[in-house]
Amino acid sequence: MLNFSFQNTTKIHFGAGQIKALAKAIPKTARVLITYGSGSIKTNDVYGQVVAALSEHIWFEFSGIEPNPSYDTLMKAQTLIRQHDIDYLLAVGGGSVVDGTKFIAAAALFEGDDPWDFVTKGQPIKQALPIGCVLTLPATGSESNTGAVVTRDGNKLPFQSPLVRPLFAVLDPAVTLSLSERQVSNGVVDAFVHTMEQYLTYSVNGKVQDRFAEGLLLTLIEEGPKALAAETANDLDVRGNIMWAATMALNGLIGSGVPQDWSTHMIGHELTGAYQIDHARTLSIVLPAVMKVCTEEKREKLLQYAERIWDLTEGDEGSRISRAIELTEEFFHIMKVPTRLSHVDLGETEIEGLIEKLTQHGMVKLGEHGAITPEVSRHILTAAL
Ligand code: NZQ
Ligand code: ZN
Repeated sequence: MLNFSFQNTTKIHFGAGQIKALAKAIPKTARVLITYGSGSIKTNDVYGQVVAALSEHIWFEFSGIEPNPSYDTLMKAQTLIRQHDIDYLLAVGGGSVVDGTKFIAAAALFEGDDPWDFVTKGQPIKQALPIGCVLTLPATGSESNTGAVVTRDGNKLPFQSPLVRPLFAVLDPAVTLSLSERQVSNGVVDAFVHTMEQYLTYSVNGKVQDRFAEGLLLTLIEEGPKALAAETANDLDVRGNIMWAATMALNGLIGSGVPQDWSTHMIGHELTGAYQIDHARTLSIVLPAVMKVCTEEKREKLLQYAERIWDLTEGDEGSRISRAIELTEEFFHIMKVPTRLSHVDLGETEIEGLIEKLTQHGMVKLGEHGAITPEVSRHILTAAL
């Protein structure tokens, strides 16, 4: 196992009715800005519950944070923050709202010229407003991690800082019942790929990390389809298991002390940046291709995955690995997400532009060994055609 330091300070309030916990979770003296998206929280009564819980607080609101939040939208919150002396942010929504709020929190106290610098120039974030969140879409893990992804002019880029980790997150599975089937699928697939990118590398004998990761993968494979089936779609245990799995998949725990490979995400971000394909749908297209192109580097872990996740113990190594990749794709099909570029009407002609963008964004040494150069990414995209 590799050396690591692990700390996750986000307090989780999980379960039915937990939005009420906001009343105590946010200091009474705070001047709160509630941030949200395009208004789903107003049709499913999440907004009503938040407002009721904050009845003794001073609060304002900022709406319109779009999926794959944009720099231009997020910068608009700065005026409100200054105008109302905001000192606490409450994100109510999915990963985009939480990520966008992380950017707003850091931008509010940024002392340089343009907060975009901490995204592109790696300028360290020295301070940020405190954030709490009410998660409405289980998927990204953003509710208890230090990362965020923001888009400016078609450039979709991640940034990290422990200062933007939410102080608390409310996870009430009931609020996910209003999600569309597409968003439910996206969430399960995103969490599945997060787990895979911290698991499918090379072995460092991290038994706890591996078995936690395998537990999450098995849970998502078992519960994901139930969240789409009419008879079980509204089952709160199913929703709860998915919600907790998604948080655990990217809260830092399973990735501590093991190598990681975020190539699927980084290539996927280019597909979203250029063609606005939903985040999870880029991942279901890219991951199987990464598994195929990087089979040699990942051989030992692929065999472990084949055996422990798909019960594949018979036949030679090559056939077990191919079958495991096929079963991964089948799972994605059951979750109704695409697994080929052609499924989203993209073809060979688009590959060069994507490689240019990856290069421009410095994504030239991806993977657990830094061996996924633009040339290898080209193979991956070609394998995904
Ligand atoms: O705009 P609203 O009204 O909020 O509607 C949203 C949006 O249209 C809707 N929605 C959310 N909760 C709902 C709901 N509709 C009905 N009922 C509910 N309970 O769902 C749509 C998609 O929301 P979005 O927040 O974009 O989805 P998701 O949570 O999948 O977030 C995706 C973003 O997170 C980033 C992605 O790149 C993408 O920008 N990621 C962030 C990560 C992180 N911070 O660690 C890691 C991830 O890998 C990912 O990259
Ligand atoms: Zn993701």
